[in-house]
Amino acid sequence: MTRHLVVDTDTASDDAVALLMAVASPDVVLDAVTVVAGNVTLDKAVRNALFTLDFCGAGHVPVHAGLERPLVRPLSTASDVHGEDGMGDTGLVRAVGRAATEHAVDALVRLANEAPGERELVTLGPLTNVAAALLRDRQLLTKYRRTVMMAGSPDCVGNVTATAEFNVWADPEAASIVLEAPGERVLVGWNISRLQAVMGPAEHQRLSSLATPRARFVQEVNVKVAEYCARVTGLDGYDLPDPVAMAVALRPALVTESERVPVRVALGEELRGQLVLDHRRGAGGPGDVEVVWRVDEEAWKELLFAACAAK
Ligand code: RIB
Ligand code: CA
Repeated sequence: MTRHLVVDTDTASDDAVALLMAVASPDVVLDAVTVVAGNVTLDKAVRNALFTLDFCGAGHVPVHAGLERPLVRPLSTASDVHGEDGMGDTGLVRAVGRAATEHAVDALVRLANEAPGERELVTLGPLTNVAAALLRDRQLLTKYRRTVMMAGSPDCVGNVTATAEFNVWADPEAASIVLEAPGERVLVGWNISRLQAVMGPAEHQRLSSLATPRARFVQEVNVKVAEYCARVTGLDGYDLPDPVAMAVALRPALVTESERVPVRVALGEELRGQLVLDHRRGAGGPGDVEVVWRVDEEAWKELLFAACAAK
């Protein structure tokens, strides 16, 4: 059965790898990409999405520009992680194509309502666009069959602060709206990226041995992330949070451990963006989120390598 995806992204290096995986998936049609400011400013995120899709032979997929800053707070980018251009600052990215005229928020609402239950949503950046769409249509996420989010860190080990993950920290009010909305939502947090999505020496060697344009693309756009990890997070390589979330969207069976639980977001300055999982008896209900605690690491990485093997 062909599945139809909509991807909301702040298009930096790992987002680009996630888009590559979606395009390479034989049983998936990428219906649209909506873009939000986050890792980089909106204009760069749009350019990176257009370039990446063109690079993968999917230049026909419509790209919709969305909100250029969080709902309430000023924009905080992550150029220290991904580079000024968001794609490793190697000079690879060039302007290709044009964004659609329809705004991303309008597109998210339309795509859900024109085919209720038929499309799946994958979010790879701050949840600003999705939250704004929810303010237009409170039932939005009941009309996407499932929403898989790279969002938050359910074990409260953060990457942008001691306890918060960037996508939720960047726009915690938006994350609150999404995490409290009705609909099937799956949260793939930075815990998975940190523990099961690190591209270490062996994975780097596997990509090098593939020696395909897509394998080289993955290595090139992540050079800055590898430097950041060596300098700050101490990971043995670079982690790929958005690709492992995309893998869960493409192959739900990759999830080997998860729980359904109410999830809230701390909004105060001290704990901004920290996830709060409520395990109290009786706290659960229809608004629960499926929080992923483990995936099949070998299988998800094979999905990545298969996507990179394509000529
Ligand atoms: O914290 C990781 C998330 O922040 C990923 O989506 C990465 O692309 C950045 O947006
Ligand atoms: Ca991202």
